[in-house]
Amino acid sequence: MTESTAKISSSLRTVEWKANRVIMIDQTKLPNELVFVEYDDYNQVADAIRTLVVRGAPAIGVSGAFGLALAVLQSNATTKEELISDLEKAKKILFETRPTAVNLGWGLKKIMDIAKSGDSVEQIRELVISKAQQMADDDIEINKTMGKIGSILFDDNDTIMTHCNAGALATVAYGTALGVIRATRESGKNIKVIATETRPVQQGSRLTAFELKHDGFDVSLIPDTAVGYSMANGLVNKVVVGADRIVKTGHVFNKIGTYQVATMAKQHGIPFYVAAPLSTIDMESKVEDVIIEMRKGTEVTGIGDKKTAPDDINVINPAFDMTPPELISGIITEKGIAKAPFEESIKKLFEVND
Ligand code: MRU
Repeated sequence: MTESTAKISSSLRTVEWKANRVIMIDQTKLPNELVFVEYDDYNQVADAIRTLVVRGAPAIGVSGAFGLALAVLQSNATTKEELISDLEKAKKILFETRPTAVNLGWGLKKIMDIAKSGDSVEQIRELVISKAQQMADDDIEINKTMGKIGSILFDDNDTIMTHCNAGALATVAYGTALGVIRATRESGKNIKVIATETRPVQQGSRLTAFELKHDGFDVSLIPDTAVGYSMANGLVNKVVVGADRIVKTGHVFNKIGTYQVATMAKQHGIPFYVAAPLSTIDMESKVEDVIIEMRKGTEVTGIGDKKTAPDDINVINPAFDMTPPELISGIITEKGIAKAPFEESIKKLFEVND
């Protein structure tokens, strides 16, 4: 692994493929330092996903695909069968890094399908690498389309709350929920944003506040505990968040605390929207099949290096929660906006042609 630092620019990608290497922004270092890491081994990509160097559902989907692109280069296989077997091993390691976001499995499956369609080792290498790059390019286009579609839901002078980071840093670029916020501003509307801090990993303060401030948005940071206060005191008109997995009934799995934000929004009659690409919709799983990632207790017992809890305290640290469809005003995708009844409207999204 090599590291380099750089200045931020709007053409930056969170994750990209360059000269047969995967380059990522190390998100654990933000907002203090902008550091790029370069990997040439899929095991390093797996570690990067596990340790949140790269995070956010679409970004880890593309990272998984790039991990397999490294695996085709690392393999010494001389036959198609050997190469597919090496890829299956790499896929397992990449897949087991994080369980909740469906985009990871989706990205890995796309690459395995294209690999299996190749005839020779050489052809499979080319197919896999170009498909992974295509997935990265598509991610940006999808976010821009989704942003435009979602922007009609937001009005001039709205103050929009968002939770966690569903921005450029959670995707290849532009973002899902923050993509909608970007597109709303690009449509000429004057908007403000409230970002929740998003304890314990602080994706809201470290990443959302960072990228929105960098892009000149009027953004205010609040502690997670001030969601109710902000809504009760008329500081918020609408909410938009991203998603890690949406099942066909419209139940949305997203960063821990999303359920609380949605419940508060319902209590105060504030529309609550979810923005996510179709790759985040899992038409197979039921609510009870979805695994909520439990993360290490030290994320909760300290902030940075500072300990904020007694030694040996028991910790419960779920990384995600589930928001039921009755709290959701609409699910914004690149194929349109699904509204209740979600089982019907989500199914229809998959029937929309380009
Ligand atoms: O644990 P993280 O940082 O990967 O969680 C990210 C989220 O929950 C995002 O809201 C979600 O992935 C949508 S990102 C476009």
